[in-house]
Amino acid sequence: MQNTGYDSLVILARAAVESAYCVYSRFAVGAAVLMDNGEVVRGSNQENAAYPSGSCAERVALFYACSAYPGVKVKAIAIAARDPAGEWVRGITPCGACRQVMAEIIRRYRADFDVVLAGGEGEVTVIPASELLPFPF
Ligand code: THU
Repeated sequence: MQNTGYDSLVILARAAVESAYCVYSRFAVGAAVLMDNGEVVRGSNQENAAYPSGSCAERVALFYACSAYPGVKVKAIAIAARDPAGEWVRGITPCGACRQVMAEIIRRYRADFDVVLAGGEGEVTVIPASELLPFPF
């Protein structure tokens, strides 16, 4: 694994994949959010028969993090995913709705944070959340 400083967060994101409820897409995503107080909150995608009612792993984890630790900044979010064949996905990136949620967390806490994209074979890419969505609402 590359030395990004986020090795343990990536391991937790990969572990969170196992709790995905993705009976419709079979695309399992896990996220692990590192907070400024050192706490880590995990989430996974949770789908629903009324498809739009489901939520991405990133939003499950970020909304839970913000509700569990109000006022505490987000330091980083690691994301990992397995495709329907069970293979680790290379280059998973957050959807537009999750980017908008990230943009608001940056604005709310006046603090950028790292988005840690875990590919297969230990590949890890780190991107500032502020670079993911130009012209946020
Ligand atoms: N999904 C995530 O949880 N995060 C992403 O970054 C992309 C997509 C979920 C939504 C849905 O449950 C499944 O993956 C297929 O799109």
